[in-house]
Order: sequence, then structure tokens, then C-alpha cells
Amino acid sequence: MASPPKYATLSTDQTQLILYIQFGAQPHIVYWGPALTNSTPEEIALLSERQWAFGGPNLDIQPSLSNEIATGLSGPPGIILDRDGLDWDALFTVEKVSQQNDHELKIQCRDTQAKISICYEISLCPEIDVFTVSTSLTNETEMPLRIDWCTALCLPLEQHFDHMRSFKGKWAYEFQHEDISTFRGSFVRENKSGRTGHDTFPALLAFNNTTNETNGLAAGFHLGWSGNSRLRVDHQADGRAFLQMGELFFPGEMVLAKGETYRTPPLYGAQSKNGFNSVSQKFHDHLNHKIMDGRILNRPRKVHYNTWEAVYFDHSEEKLIVLAEKAAEIGAERFVLDDGWFGGRRNDSKGLGDWWVSKDVYPNGLHRLASRVRDLNMEFGIWVEPEMVNPDSDLFREHPDWILEIKGTPQIPSRNQFVLDLTRQDVTEYLYEKICTIIKTYDVTYLKWDMNRDIHHPGSQGRAVTSAQTRAVYQLMRRMRDTFPRLEIESCSSGGARADYGVLQYTDRIWTSDSNDALDRQNIQRGASYFLPLNVMGAHVGPEKCHITGRRLSMALRAATAFFGHMGMELNLLEERQEDLAILKKSIALHKQHRNLLHTGQFFRQDGPESHNIIGVVSRDKTEAIYSCTKLTHHSTTLPGLCKFTGLNSDQRYRIKIIWPLSEISPTAPSILESAKLLDSGSVFSGEALMRHGIQLPLMMPESNLIYYLEAIKND
Ligand code: GLA
Repeated sequence: MASPPKYATLSTDQTQLILYIQFGAQPHIVYWGPALTNSTPEEIALLSERQWAFGGPNLDIQPSLSNEIATGLSGPPGIILDRDGLDWDALFTVEKVSQQNDHELKIQCRDTQAKISICYEISLCPEIDVFTVSTSLTNETEMPLRIDWCTALCLPLEQHFDHMRSFKGKWAYEFQHEDISTFRGSFVRENKSGRTGHDTFPALLAFNNTTNETNGLAAGFHLGWSGNSRLRVDHQADGRAFLQMGELFFPGEMVLAKGETYRTPPLYGAQSKNGFNSVSQKFHDHLNHKIMDGRILNRPRKVHYNTWEAVYFDHSEEKLIVLAEKAAEIGAERFVLDDGWFGGRRNDSKGLGDWWVSKDVYPNGLHRLASRVRDLNMEFGIWVEPEMVNPDSDLFREHPDWILEIKGTPQIPSRNQFVLDLTRQDVTEYLYEKICTIIKTYDVTYLKWDMNRDIHHPGSQGRAVTSAQTRAVYQLMRRMRDTFPRLEIESCSSGGARADYGVLQYTDRIWTSDSNDALDRQNIQRGASYFLPLNVMGAHVGPEKCHITGRRLSMALRAATAFFGHMGMELNLLEERQEDLAILKKSIALHKQHRNLLHTGQFFRQDGPESHNIIGVVSRDKTEAIYSCTKLTHHSTTLPGLCKFTGLNSDQRYRIKIIWPLSEISPTAPSILESAKLLDSGSVFSGEALMRHGIQLPLMMPESNLIYYLEAIKND
């Protein structure tokens, strides 16, 4: 009888993952890197052979997929569990391996004495080249099994990945990144905010000191999870490095009874030798084609008009109808009625939880507004914040016990609200029933689903429940989507604090940030683009004077910034200048003309030049491209550098011209705008020249933008 295989391999054209899966032994990763076409797993394993070293144990300690404590490895374990102080030393060895093809693998392991099993499900998407790993732990005995930590995987990081990029930020300034170089010891990011968080987007990039957007080795990792999380990378004293990502549990939060299983959120990973752009492109494709449910995949993303910054809580049917008419005239295709339409919600201290239309403001319901919106050829959407309650609400007066709490400790109100306990079925039934009634009554096709606070006291009946609460939110979203297959949901959490691939399984758009300041948005959207594609990135044109930063920015810049996202407007159209409204209208028409390219093409960030943010999208067949160049501040040289294009076909010739703004680009003349006729018919250049050499940028004023459009012309 043939002996069972010792190795399993998952491969795509670009990448290979080799695992050691010997029966009765600990499984581990032998290799994750560029596809090897002429090598065997055995030779890679032999090439990896280590030895004992002075001062160390007599044999080299083998890692595993979870680096359990009992492996003896010096670094932090990937699993921490126990049964009342026992079985902390569980060690899992392979019992069964199932592999039907070269992109899906299931490794079942068990500790026969402790009677705990663990199953690793690993896939490597053949077309897109992103791997997904989820790990499940099952308790097989009567004694409850407490899990304190379970990473989706302990992924060995090769030594060339000695730099790391992580994400930080705050309300209205999300997705800022921070790089660190080689270190020894541990890099840990923990998020216990009860949501994905403004300050800890659960993702990391690994790279080396020669990597940039278009060249060099880069790897990306993301945990698809909207609750508490822990990300860590440990460079051990023995020279090895491991990455771990998983849910962060509070004590006793995850306890398995007999037969129960805990499954980790998925960890996604991809690498490339072509820089960060290539990693982002893989993640974007994976999200669009493998994670989101496809309901919007082939539909144009409708241009929004959102009422928040236009009226805040000051609702009136008359005013909103006038705004809807104006918005439709300017090009909106969906009208989203934001906060303030329900219960006693006249400001942010009242009414949350009372999901019925406010009689004071809309005595006849939302019928007139919703039907006027539809007559204007727009969809009707509304804002909800299901997980929250104001103490000053009918719901709270009736059910003061429906909230998450730490008994005996005063509540910490945040934005004057408490958090409902969604682990209770009566709570989710109430929310489902009330919100579905609104959806049905007004034919709502779009929900902006908000979540406006951290969860400081995630307790229910004495136990910590962030994990269960997060799953309950997903379940409620899923249920509503099953009930209304046309319904689209936007994930908002005081801006971008719930933006991740977990929630995007059940939602269609992210509200990227509450800041509509176009200059800040350039940074925020660039940061978000490492993992989020433009088609999910909500981006609105805000008022001339930004409400959050007080900065005044031109309509041309505001419009161009929202143009590179899922575009919308969020401003009082009655207060803007006529000439600005005309610019806005043109930008929306232009966005509609190019949105198929923007939302289905391949996205690129450029590395320079100084003080400019350059991003672009190239169609899959490379016949068209659109590039945005924003001058953020002054540069230190009198003239700027070149704008290089990436992703074109070097054998193809392209006509390049500037399609935005329509005037006033450069304060001095003549410039390349005239010599290359960039504002008229444009000029034709080879893809090779545009990519390798680039085009001289015109001198621009700070806080201004231009958009190039490139179209392939027939080769002679
Ligand atoms: C949050 C959202 C905003 C808006 C308000 C309404 O702050 O991020 O876009 O919807 O809530 O209260």
C-alpha cells in the first residue's frame, strides 16, 4: 500500500504554498512564495533543513500551523486554551488530509489525549492568487474548553519581508499608514473597540527596503472581521518570523461545550514581486469576485445624494423635496435620507431605537418624499443604526435591560447612546421586524447601516460577548438581505470604523470617512485603496467649507476627489454658488461616462512625484486608462517632476488628454498643456514612453487636481 503523502501543495500560476502534512506529526508550512515549477516539495524541505545551535536544545524545534505551546517553540503561541488549567499543552497532529484539487486543502488534526480537534481549511484562489485560511477548534469532551487565543494561522514570514506597514487613524482621518523596519521581538496591534475601528484596520503589508508601488516583493494580509482583533508579527530569537491574526477575546468569552466548534475569521493573504499595487489588485479582485455576494457586481454604482451635511437633524418634507429635485437635476441617482427621520430623533441625544417614522416631522409618513424621489428617477435609501439605543427613547424606557453592560459599573455613554445586546433573540427580532416594515412600506432599496460608538462594556449576563455580538450583526444583515434580494447596504461606523472583508460579505459599500475634506480624503482614500477597491469606497462631494476641518476647497478638487470612488454628494445644494453647481453637474456626468472603467479596471497608485498624489485605473484590456493627479501642497523644486503611468501596454499607442478640470490648470504659460495639446485633442504617445519616461506635469496651484484620460489608438 502506498504511504500517505508527506507534503501538500497549493499552486497558482504565480504562487505556491507547500505544507508538511505527515500523518501523526505536526503540520507546518514549508514554503509560501513565487511558484516553483521545477522543484519538488522534498527538495524545498531539505533546503530548509536547520540544525541545533550552541546554547539551544539538542534538536531544532519544528513549528506547526498554530505553534502550540507544546511545540516548544520560543515565540508566542498561536493557540492558547485550557480546561480549568489542564490541556493547556494540547499538541495537534495530522489525522486526515483532504485535497480534491490544487487550490483547496483541509487538514484535520487532533490531540488524542486532550480530545480536541482542529481543522485548517486553506485555499488559494487559482485565478486571483489570494489565499484564505480559517481554522476550527472542536471540543470533544464534557469539560468546557476555554479558548483565549486562536490565530487563523501562524504564517512563517521569509527574511526578505523585513519591513511592515500597518494602519492607524482616528475619526475623520482613517487609513493612515505607518512603516517600520527590521526589528527583533514582537509587533502587536490590538483592537478592543468592538468594531473594526478607526485606528486599527486589521491588515498588514510586509515588504523590503526596495519595494515600492510597482516593483519589489510585497505581501498583504487582512483579517475579515468586524470585531475585536489582534495582529502580531514576531521575529524570534531563533531567526524565524511568524505572522498571526485572529479575534481578540476577553477572558471566558469563548468557551466550548462538548461538540461545539469555534471557527476563526478568515485570514486573507497575497504576495507579489511587482510591488504594493499588484498585491492591492489581487485583494480588490478577491473581494469583488469571491467575498461580496455579487448583487452589485454588474450594475453601475449609482451616484448618491446624502442628506447628512445638508440638513443634519433639521428635517422638513418641503426642504428635502426641494433638495431632491436639485440633486436629481445635478445627476443623483439615489437619495439617501440620513439620520433624523424617525422617533423623537431631533438631535443625537434622543430617539435611537425607535424605528418608526417621526410623526412630528413627517405627519403623513415618508410616502410623499419617497415617491417624489422615485418620480425623479432616483432610488430611495435611508439611514439606520440598528445596534444602538439612546437612553432617551421609547425603546429604552420599555426595555432598559436590552443593552450590553458590565453589571454594577455605570454605563459609558458615547454619542449619548448605549449598545443593544444583539446576542438576545428578542432584540434582533425587534430590529428585524421594525426595519423590514420601513423597507417594505417605502420600497427602500438602500440602507446606510451605521454604528457610531466603540463598545466599552461588551457584557451580557456577566459574560464578554463581542464575538457573539459581531456574529449577530452579520446574521441580522444576512437575514435582511435574504428577505430583500435587491437591497444594498452601506457599512458606516462614524465613517470608516467598520470597513473590512467580514462586513463586506453582507454589504456593498463602505462609508470611507466622515471627512468630506477633499485634501484629507486624498490621503484617506489612498490608504483605504491598499485593500478596498474604488467601487466600494463611498466618496462624497462636500460643502465648500468643510464642516470637519473648516478648510475651503474648490469645487473642481472636491468633485475630482469623489470622482475616484463610489461618487456622491453631501452638501446643501441651495447654498452653493451657481458656477460651482455647474462644475459639480459636469463632474457627475463625466463620472457616469467613466464609472465602468473606474469600478472594473485595475487600480494603481504611483510613488511620486513630491507633493502629488497620483492614482489611476486601467481597463483590463489596456485600451483605456484614467489617471488622477492631485497637487497636495507646494513642492521644494520650482517645477514638478514627471507623472508616470503604470499598467499600459507598452506596444500600444495612446491618445492622452486632460479631461478635468475644464480650465485654469497652470498659473504660467505656455506649458506642456499647449505643446502637447492636452486640453484639446490630446497627443499620441507610445505606452512604453508614457510608462518608462512619463509626462512632465504642468505647474499647478496647491490643492488642485487634473485627470488624464488615455485611449488606445489603432496601431499603424
Ligand atoms: C455618523 C455617520 C455620518 C452620519 C451620522 C448621522 O457620524 O458616519 O455619515 O450618518 O452618523 O448621525
